[in-house]
Amino acid sequence: MEYIFGYFLARFDCPHEIYYINEELSDKLSKTFACPMLKTYQVREQRGNVITTCNLPQFNVSALNIQDLIDWIKERILECSSLLWNGEASDVKFTLMWANQMLQGSEGVCHTHKRNIDGVAIFYQSVPLYSGDLVFIRNGQQGTSYKNYSDIDLCFQHVKSGLLVIHDKSLPHAISTHMSSDPRISLIFEFKYIS
Ligand SMILES: [Fe+2]
Repeated sequence: MEYIFGYFLARFDCPHEIYYINEELSDKLSKTFACPMLKTYQVREQRGNVITTCNLPQFNVSALNIQDLIDWIKERILECSSLLWNGEASDVKFTLMWANQMLQGSEGVCHTHKRNIDGVAIFYQSVPLYSGDLVFIRNGQQGTSYKNYSDIDLCFQHVKSGLLVIHDKSLPHAISTHMSSDPRISLIFEFKYIS
């Protein structure tokens, strides 16, 4: 656990590969991202060839049948509560969950998570070589590219399959250009602590 530009950040490696690399999950994710309506659906945090289920209630991450993974993520979020929330939480409520797939040439533009939440967790399900990395931006402005900032204001976080990142909702972040011809898939969880 650490602080980047004054904001909380934690990284955890999931030791249970079977939780996120298995045939059922791959199949469900492939079917999800193949849905034609997602091809034209865009949210403001993305640029280029990104497919997201964000804010689409018909795509429920729970339907991916990954309860073991979700339980593991919850435990890690609870471990962060004293630093991220200033208290010992008894439970975690996921207020919004979605899946993102980045394709070659896409990037995520700078944003914070503005909803009424206590933090954000990102689980990297599949990260091929030459994937986009998570980029934190000092005083990053909504909707801008990380390429507009000088190196001193950028903090690149290399990501890999099985990594969980938990961060303060107000830490500005983006995703660097995804250079692989294979997709990069992540699951995003916005959460609130329960006392
Ligand atoms: Fe984000």
